[in-house]
Amino acid sequence: MGVVRHLRQVDADATGVDIAFRADVHAGLSQRPKAVPARWFYDATGSALFEDITALPEYYPTRSETDLLTRHAAEIAAAIGPGRAVVELGSGSSTKTPLLIEAIDPAAYVPVDISGDFLRDSAEALATQFPGLAIYPVEADFTQRVDLPREICPLPKLGFFPGSTIGNMVARTAIDLLRGWRATLGDGSLMLIGVDRIKDIAILERAYDDPAGVTAAFNLNLLERINRELGGTIPVENFSHRAIWNDVHARIEMHLVAACDMDFTVDGRTYSMAKGETIHSENSHKYGPRDANLLLRAGGWTPVATWDDADPAFALILAEATEFRSAP
Ligand code: AVJ
Repeated sequence: MGVVRHLRQVDADATGVDIAFRADVHAGLSQRPKAVPARWFYDATGSALFEDITALPEYYPTRSETDLLTRHAAEIAAAIGPGRAVVELGSGSSTKTPLLIEAIDPAAYVPVDISGDFLRDSAEALATQFPGLAIYPVEADFTQRVDLPREICPLPKLGFFPGSTIGNMVARTAIDLLRGWRATLGDGSLMLIGVDRIKDIAILERAYDDPAGVTAAFNLNLLERINRELGGTIPVENFSHRAIWNDVHARIEMHLVAACDMDFTVDGRTYSMAKGETIHSENSHKYGPRDANLLLRAGGWTPVATWDDADPAFALILAEATEFRSAP
């Protein structure tokens, strides 16, 4: 089977630049405080830098989640069963996917990712590893509506949303996304989702501000990408990386901090920043057990099993699509 068909569901302009990227950058730089959505980290350079982050000793989420998938594979497989179409949201390099595929023996695999080249390469690698599996890569922003390949329509679905990527969204957006995927995946579907837990602040802040500076490079690449793709004149050397815990929102925030007053242009439009002003580039929300369950229920998913005995703490939650019924 292998890669059956690559579906592209992003709008690019004549120069190949994502139209939504341009719009989000201008909207975000015009706003106060300035902010650019975290999904725009993931051009080819950013996706590769994120892979480097997952190998850092300080960045525990990948290790904790892989550990859970490995140790509880049999139990997870028993709860999910074989023959499903696995739809992975934000598949990236698909490094955790082989563990799941080996455990549950799915009928098809649909990796959904915004980084097209990265998606193509990892789908090819997976096809080599699982030659019997039908793979349908979908190049799309999974926070928007995604059309699934028609071939998987009759199959029962499993949404696979690892890495605590749900944490990048504020609650309102997270719930919109969960409800949207509840509708897209349909009745009888399941969702296996990775959620990072609230823990010691020092551990959290170190995971997002490593001494080797890989996370800093990942954050600063957003500015380089704006310069590369949107003809920006941002003086990247005048920015630094900041990662701080926001206790009110239970999240790590990443910012790009201006070291001095400056003006720069993007697409010929001028923006000014004062010394100390920041561009907010990422949120990474952390959830206690009840928080995570409430979020899933609000999004139309009923938690049915949780595996969360990793250290540092991380949770894999299996949820089923909630049936609509009248309730008090
Ligand atoms: C892949 C989005 C879940 O928030 O932990 C890692 C991205 N940012 N280091 C996360 C990220 C900085 C990561 N997610």
